[in-house]
Amino acid sequence: MEKTQPWWKTAVVYQIYPRSFQDSNGDGIGDIPGIISRLDYLQFLGIQAIWLCPVYQSPNTDNGYDISNYEAILSDFGTMKDMEKLIRLAKQKGIRIIMDLVLNHTSDQHHWFVEAQKSKENPYRDYYVWADPINNHAPNQLGSIFGGRAWKYDRITNQYYLHLFSEQQPDLNWENQKMRTKIYQMINFWIQKGVGGFRLDVIDLIGKKPLKMITGNGPKLHNYLKEMNRSVFAEKDLMTVGEAGSATVEDAKKYSGPDRNELSMVFQFEHLAIDQQLGKEKWDLAPLNLEKLKQVFVKWQVELAGSGWNSLFWNNHDQPRIVSRWGNDKQYRVVSAKMLAILLHMMQGTPYIYQGEEIGMTNRPITDISEADDIETINMYQQRLNEGYSKQAILASINAKGRDNARTPIQWNDELNAGFTTGKPWLAVNQNYQVINIAAELANENSIFYTYQKLIKLRKSNPILSQGNFKLLEDTKTEVFAYYRQLENAKWLVVCNFSDQINEFNLTDDVEKVIISDYSDLSLAEMGKNISLQLRPYEAFVVAVKA
Ligand code: NOJ
Repeated sequence: MEKTQPWWKTAVVYQIYPRSFQDSNGDGIGDIPGIISRLDYLQFLGIQAIWLCPVYQSPNTDNGYDISNYEAILSDFGTMKDMEKLIRLAKQKGIRIIMDLVLNHTSDQHHWFVEAQKSKENPYRDYYVWADPINNHAPNQLGSIFGGRAWKYDRITNQYYLHLFSEQQPDLNWENQKMRTKIYQMINFWIQKGVGGFRLDVIDLIGKKPLKMITGNGPKLHNYLKEMNRSVFAEKDLMTVGEAGSATVEDAKKYSGPDRNELSMVFQFEHLAIDQQLGKEKWDLAPLNLEKLKQVFVKWQVELAGSGWNSLFWNNHDQPRIVSRWGNDKQYRVVSAKMLAILLHMMQGTPYIYQGEEIGMTNRPITDISEADDIETINMYQQRLNEGYSKQAILASINAKGRDNARTPIQWNDELNAGFTTGKPWLAVNQNYQVINIAAELANENSIFYTYQKLIKLRKSNPILSQGNFKLLEDTKTEVFAYYRQLENAKWLVVCNFSDQINEFNLTDDVEKVIISDYSDLSLAEMGKNISLQLRPYEAFVVAVKA
């Protein structure tokens, strides 16, 4: 058993999407003073770190993922003084702030790009990726992740620039040493402010070779990460998590292997790609295949153990709400949200809770595209209309997968605008706030909130969760997802009924103690060895068993 582990191996991280968390000044946009006012709540939940989505100066084409100044705070969110106060007050409560670093691209309004656009000779020109036209056309067919081509023609200099996301997000050229040095200086600026670490946006793209059609996992990707580590992270007690959409287990070992000196851990998305048609886009919906889900989790749990570190998440600001996606957001909302939490939080890795997940917030369906805010959603809508899809089909995809589902304001209470703002919220509040809100959760000891609170506590005090090995129980019904964790003489059995139907489970272990369950009336007395349990809809429990 590892004696001293880095803090982030037993931590749970809470993700804040600042626009939607808490408004303090009535402008309808969440802000940093709003976050400060809710630190007590987060401390009560028990988390050790906050991943804060971008709060830097930005024209907000992609809600902050288009940064125009990395060392300034967007005035909608407050001031640098507010940010410093947040870092300081959070630290006093044992909460570290993880900043979101967007290093693959900037905003087209960043002064580097404003300069770069002026002429081919400009000293900043090479900070970005430029290419000559070929036969009066874009250099190649490379597509943007937000739709259309990834090349934008610039009339003044008769060249194209690369934008893997929107036209307003030109890609940085990581081949340029000067640019990299500036980026490292900027990261150090934040380290000196006392932040606890960084989440690195689409970091798998920085090694791109666009003229060779290579975007993810480019040849120098890991050289850059090693250089970054040497220049800024080394010897500091920081947590770093790289978003690597395309990462396989082998890639994850490279990013996060203990001797690799790159990052602490990765965000990989294999488990969230299961409900889309193979080889198609996320909008092309497919039903959840539970066998496949198990296979993916087992692969990551078993193969990464000891040679890298994973993050555990169902949600973020780019994903729909998990209780609507794979749980049941009607009759079984509470119990299915708890089951999903238990299933994930008993695994090895660092769990992330996306704001509102801890109270089972749901998707927010729309009936017209005018209700959407997200650039990805709006671009896709237009593109698919042009391609002949019906409005109804496109809206069905948006309601299942659109990013706005996760971005509606946090529902604090049943008062005006769910207590998020006294003004007009930038994105409409989900109408179910009178039933689903934090005040109601806190008042009910059987709420989803308290399940999350307990899961966070369990991780902190039980090394079996961070260090134990993982083994799937293979001999179960498909709908039953059950596994063991074991560390020396301690052995836990996790059983989850991933279904709204009753399912049978044969208990073959000697049960010693109930650790957690989602139905409050589960009792040890019912848990004899070799009995067949009738698991109720979405029933989940964890028990300590004889090793
Ligand atoms: C991933 C972020 O999570 C997403 O919100 C953003 O649109 C893209 N990267 C581009 O920065």
